[in-house]
Amino acid sequence: MSIQYYEKENIFQLNTQTTTYLLGIVDGTYVGHIYYGRKLRNCQGAYAYLRTKDAPFVPSVNLREKCSFMDAFPWEYSVYGVGDYRESCLIVRTESGYRGCELSYVSHRILEEKPVLAGLPSTFGKEGRQVQTLEILCSDSCIGLQVVLSYSIFEDSDVIVRSVRLLNTGQKKLYIEKVFSACLDMDQNNYEVLVLSGSWARERHMTKYPLRSGKHVVSSNRGESSHQEHPFLALTSPGCTQDCGEVYGMHFVYSGNFLAAAEDSQFDSVRMVMGIHPEGFEWVLEPGSSFQAPEVVCIYSDQGLGKMSRALHDFYRNHLIRSPYLHRKRPILINTWEAAYFDFDADYLVEIAREAGTLGIEMLVMDDGWFGHRSSDDSSLGDWKVNEEKLPGGISALVERVKAEGLAFGIWFEPEMISPDSDLYRAHPDWTLQIPGRVPSMSRAQYVLDLSCQEVVDYVYECVASILRNADISYVKWDMNRQLTDVGSSFLTGEKQGEVLHRYVLGVYQLQERLIHEFPGLLLENCSGGGARFDPGMLYYSPQIWCSDDTDAIERLTIQEGTALLYPLSCIGAHVSTCPNHIVGRITPLKTRGHVALSGTFGYELDITKLTDKERERIRKQIQMYHEYHRLIQDGDYYRIASWMDNHLYDCWMIVSKDQREALVTYVQVLAKANVKSRKLYLKGLDEKSCYRLEETGELFGGDLLMYGGYLAAPEKGDFVSRLLHFRCLDE
Ligand code: DGJ
Repeated sequence: MSIQYYEKENIFQLNTQTTTYLLGIVDGTYVGHIYYGRKLRNCQGAYAYLRTKDAPFVPSVNLREKCSFMDAFPWEYSVYGVGDYRESCLIVRTESGYRGCELSYVSHRILEEKPVLAGLPSTFGKEGRQVQTLEILCSDSCIGLQVVLSYSIFEDSDVIVRSVRLLNTGQKKLYIEKVFSACLDMDQNNYEVLVLSGSWARERHMTKYPLRSGKHVVSSNRGESSHQEHPFLALTSPGCTQDCGEVYGMHFVYSGNFLAAAEDSQFDSVRMVMGIHPEGFEWVLEPGSSFQAPEVVCIYSDQGLGKMSRALHDFYRNHLIRSPYLHRKRPILINTWEAAYFDFDADYLVEIAREAGTLGIEMLVMDDGWFGHRSSDDSSLGDWKVNEEKLPGGISALVERVKAEGLAFGIWFEPEMISPDSDLYRAHPDWTLQIPGRVPSMSRAQYVLDLSCQEVVDYVYECVASILRNADISYVKWDMNRQLTDVGSSFLTGEKQGEVLHRYVLGVYQLQERLIHEFPGLLLENCSGGGARFDPGMLYYSPQIWCSDDTDAIERLTIQEGTALLYPLSCIGAHVSTCPNHIVGRITPLKTRGHVALSGTFGYELDITKLTDKERERIRKQIQMYHEYHRLIQDGDYYRIASWMDNHLYDCWMIVSKDQREALVTYVQVLAKANVKSRKLYLKGLDEKSCYRLEETGELFGGDLLMYGGYLAAPEKGDFVSRLLHFRCLDE
């Protein structure tokens, strides 16, 4: 049993394989947080940690200081307006305009399942990996609000998934101004904050800083989870490394605006919260209706970041990604974007396919530029009709020609957008997000479709689906190339304009749900101007997400390191692209580009018709390499060995098969140094009692020697050079 309720003490104990979470009810009313950390055998004596015996005591003992109690109590869910001045999770306004809420425990139930959240991505249990859920019902009878705090315990993954549901039980409307999904009140322990931040083409760089007094916030108010900040927040013990130290992480299963904060407050306590960004958000809760807030994945590791990463990778593989491609070999694809941008026609695409086929590439993906009269990014979004000048005979004719070359076919869409220069815009100018009287701000010469409106969602769906119905298309890249502004809908009343941002995200989810339902065999890859919507929410719909428009192998080291902190390598979209790199101009060896892309979905994005024989030979080798290692990379355990962000010289990571019989180490010497000896790479995750053979050289090593003595990597000549080390266990 993962969930135990101790009635006498009024304590709930939530256990995963290696962690325990304790919460308790004080005075039969207040739901308080007691403990989250290493697994405890029992919770004897734990009630005292709620500090109800410390002044100012609980309101039933000392009502005159209720306010002080509210502001110091470790809440399971913090509310605004009645004395807790720290970051709140819930702000509700009544019809008369009053804000203020106080939640009292009413009842609880334990479910032997993980409920599905309608319309939202939701983690799930699996046969043999059952999940229990604790739901605590609280209410505020003064305003007629019920709040259900939900905790699903994924025992096998060391993960607790939290969410919150609100129900209006009164006779009048309530206005939700803020609803977060999770709150964690702990004692301050000199924590450091770890977040992933960046920009376009520089996504998810790991950033760490000490938690000082006050609030530390990461957020997106851009309508998507964003390039700039990631919906992830961790507090770590000082000096936490890959292998040692404590980590408390929260990761939001949502793809729109978010806010996560860590607040160090006056009594040496710290609060972590995460949820939908309150800015621009308001939801009208009609009497009898409910609102479901998205899920937050909560994780604790007592063995550093590495344990957290591996637990999250397994968790997402087992309990979030639904695609039949999860464990299936992904086709090696060639994408036309960096090869041709908008400048292609059917003959050129077939030429690419022919050339790619001879090298062993398995799918051609036609990127942007095939529809309307699009020959730059200035037009045609919304007009999902093939450009017959470029592709005479339409898509099905092209698909048949590509298939005749032995390749499957994939296609690009940007369904959420509309160009002012499009037939769709001319027919339906009211279908864009806009504020009456104001010309919406353009970005990449495009506007955003109002996906809060069901009619627009239905239209968009038919555009995409009818193309897929009429040609043999195996893969869709779903792009989204601008962030939201002028967030107003022509279809909602003034009172409901605060719902547009969230309804937009629900519209995207609905579209993708319908798509994978109608086309169950489709491989869907999400993308947003690179990796601006790389989040657990999108993973529920697509097993892979384009990681970044920056395909330079060296830049990718940092981007992929940050991404792999949370996500399995099987969902990280990565391609070998041309040199000099189109974004940074750097020249790196084709071999290194292949090694870096191999730790992702693997594919190509270059003009394959213009390669030298040597390059063609190298690509053939890379393709063999992919066939040999894809299973290990897709399903294995990830260990970070060294980070060039820290050492400024080299990068190294490895994947170990679950049975420890095989391991693949990727080593990149970013910068060469004069007069140095061989460098020790301390491998991880091997069986210390086993003997391993390095396949490239036939050398034998003990697993313990490789881990504690290190593998000696000889210095190489040149910058940006890389090696793959493949170890196989010899023991039976
Ligand atoms: C942004 C994507 O990240 C690129 O890969 C490419 O598909 C372009 N959009 C096309 O406009």
